Amino acid sequence: ALISLRQLLDHAAEHSYGVPAFNVNNLEQMRAIMEAADKTDSPVIVQASAGARKYAGAPFLRHLILAAIEEFPHIPVVMHQDHGTSPAICQRSIQLGFSSVMMDGSLGEDGKTPTSYEYNAGVTRRVVEMAHACGVSVEGEIGCLGSLETGMAGEEDGVGAEGILDHSQMLTDPEEAARFVQDTGVDALAIAIGTSHGAYKFTRPPTDDILAIDRIKAIHARIPNTHLVMHGSSSVPQEWLQIINQYGGDIKETYGVPVEQIVEAIKHGVRKVNIDTDLRLASTGAIRRHMAEHPAEFDPRKFFKDTIVAMRDVCVDRYVAFNCAGQASKI
Ligand code: G3H
Ligand code: 13P
Ligand code: ZN
Repeated sequence: ALISLRQLLDHAAEHSYGVPAFNVNNLEQMRAIMEAADKTDSPVIVQASAGARKYAGAPFLRHLILAAIEEFPHIPVVMHQDHGTSPAICQRSIQLGFSSVMMDGSLGEDGKTPTSYEYNAGVTRRVVEMAHACGVSVEGEIGCLGSLETGMAGEEDGVGAEGILDHSQMLTDPEEAARFVQDTGVDALAIAIGTSHGAYKFTRPPTDDILAIDRIKAIHARIPNTHLVMHGSSSVPQEWLQIINQYGGDIKETYGVPVEQIVEAIKHGVRKVNIDTDLRLASTGAIRRHMAEHPAEFDPRKFFKDTIVAMRDVCVDRYVAFNCAGQASKI
């Protein structure tokens, strides 16, 4: 059944678990997520980004999620819009039937330029008023995602202009977070603690100077009743990097957010954990391996089937690690 983000995260807070929020772009990802949730009795958050809408088209994405709900009626599913850059985009998703939207006013409509507190609080407040009138939840963001190591906003290919953001913008201030929640009434709050989107998060296994788990503790202590969201939470599994490179890929040395650190964050109020890159890596590794091992194969279903299995296993691992497994039937 379709449920709101608020309903799911209230349950997660009450029972001290975290919920992975997986990005969805195609049928294989959708199946992988649902099969993993079914296998582990986990509730689901699936999210559609602007890039996903561009790739698949909003109606296809919407019906993909509705099809998942139809096939797995016993699994609670949140249909979430990831990183909306304007109230108009959020409004469109609400119209389409999403049960949750993210208004990311930490950046401007170009998705790149940091904004003022007043702008962010203003657009987020407007979306909360609109969404709550329709029973839809809202996630806001305070602070800008970015690497404390390089000062980059996080480029998918690992190369980007340095020094776009200053250090203080990339660590959410607990007082500002409290004011933002008060001013906007958001249901969940994304915070910045040194993670960034994509595979190139850290050039070495992260230590606490570049992955600020302590900052989560300080924010949670200040706003204990707010559900926190961690973006850029892929763990970038070394085994998948190795498989990709073994079968002709060329991915540079890079590290993600260790699962143990996410588990620690969940102890301190993180309830929604955004993961996209890990499924992309597993999918690419599975395709490269399949094609290398079966060069005569030309039925795409053969290698797409492998991507489903690879992504499903990643999802199962996260559901289990975040203590989300076993919760679906209790909601
Ligand atoms: O927000 C970042 C997600 O990884 C989605 O990325 O816009 O390339 O689909 P995308
Ligand atoms: P990753 O790139 O770490 O998977 O993060 C995804 C995300 O935050 C989507 O909003
Ligand atoms: Zn994100």
